[in-house]
Amino acid sequence: MRAAEWFVNLLTAYAGAGVAFARRRPARRLCGGPGGEEAHATTESGNPLDRADAAEEFAMSVQYQPIGWNRQKRIYDSVLAASVLLYLALFVGLGALVHPNATAETLLIRGFGTAALLLLHVILCIGPLGRLDRRFLPLLYNRRHLGVTMFLLGLSHGVFSIVQFHGFGDIHPLVSLFVSNSRYGSLADFPFQPLGFFALLILFLMASTSHDFWLHNLSAPVWKKLHMLVYAAYALLIGHVTLGALQSETSPVLAAVLGVGLATVLSLHVAAALKEQRVDEAPVTPGSEGFVEVCAVDKIPENRAVVVSLSGERVAVFKYGGKVSAISNVCRHQNGPLGEGRILDGCVTCPWHGYQYLPDSGASPPPFTEKVATFRTRVVDGKVLVHPCAYAPGTRVEPARIEGETVGRQA
Ligand code: HEM
Ligand code: FES
Repeated sequence: MRAAEWFVNLLTAYAGAGVAFARRRPARRLCGGPGGEEAHATTESGNPLDRADAAEEFAMSVQYQPIGWNRQKRIYDSVLAASVLLYLALFVGLGALVHPNATAETLLIRGFGTAALLLLHVILCIGPLGRLDRRFLPLLYNRRHLGVTMFLLGLSHGVFSIVQFHGFGDIHPLVSLFVSNSRYGSLADFPFQPLGFFALLILFLMASTSHDFWLHNLSAPVWKKLHMLVYAAYALLIGHVTLGALQSETSPVLAAVLGVGLATVLSLHVAAALKEQRVDEAPVTPGSEGFVEVCAVDKIPENRAVVVSLSGERVAVFKYGGKVSAISNVCRHQNGPLGEGRILDGCVTCPWHGYQYLPDSGASPPPFTEKVATFRTRVVDGKVLVHPCAYAPGTRVEPARIEGETVGRQA
């Protein structure tokens, strides 16, 4: 029963921390439309929210909220919850039919564990998929909700396992987890459960710091490094499941599925990295006065950008309303690729979570304070040129005018 108490204490601490995180922070970016039109909120997928949601968001937009609910988030989370419940029901139901001797605890342990691992694969694939094809970008929206759900599933699996396998001895379950099997020198008998424990610890760190409160208080680079630990957790879990499967009579299907999952994660990451490498290594033609030729102006779709690597920095060159502006490609929120977003309500809108920046100054519209670097642009003979020297974040740079275009047309 000590394990059960420990679980309850952990959940209480976690819930308490969640409430404590609720502090001031914009939950959604809003950008006033041209000519002082009514404020209009957008999702990171670029879908405009309806006005009721926009007003609701605006009312709380400069305060930390545990979660700033809106229609999209409710739909996203409902689909997520329904999918998880359906998976668990199918897993336990079919498991009971196929293995009539298996106990409910065993089926639940396996259901929670496989659901968590499956979700982790989805989470790891969404990033590169979004880079390879814009149509996957809506999945990135609220990816952190997937992460927290995955942690809770992993936690349920871990706690059930600890209670089942270590809860009834005369030593503390957490001590038993590490000492009940000490064959660290054997591959076939390696204590695989501590690997799951350390993975769970990383997932806990990530889930508990997933709120924007932590992003801004830890600083974006520290937060990013912390969240890159997901790959360490993934490696630990591959070891946990592979070694666990080696030691039990678990069907080879699990090992095969895990192999396919690992190959999918790896190949998508390699494909996305190669695509980005092509941008970084694309040759640039030097123009006059230090400007660099980027592309023909016709190659940039209206209200969208072309991304180019200049002096090692990715720059997003936007075309909008007969003008061209260039800003850093890196969003201040979580390094999202601004050049893969579009201009909505006169603002460059990050495709990941909807942070917005004015294209000519790189500054977020008030009351937000994020700023990105800006670059000088020119349009000469139908070609777009950008100067590779960055201006300080938030510095307004006069946009280049496209000859023959009507200035002022915006999305
Ligand atoms: C304290 C942490 C953990 C402990 C003590 C633990 C324990 C176990 C045990 C005892 C098994 C074998 C179960 C059986 O054969 O019936 C197992 C398997 C498994 N675990 Fe964990 N685990 C932990 C964390 C995790 C986490 C965080 C994940 C995923 C995110 C995970 C995913 C899996 C999967 C997919 C399996 C194979 C499915 C199965 O055969 O049960 N585990 N774990
Ligand atoms: S809004 Fe989150 S990374 Fe840009």
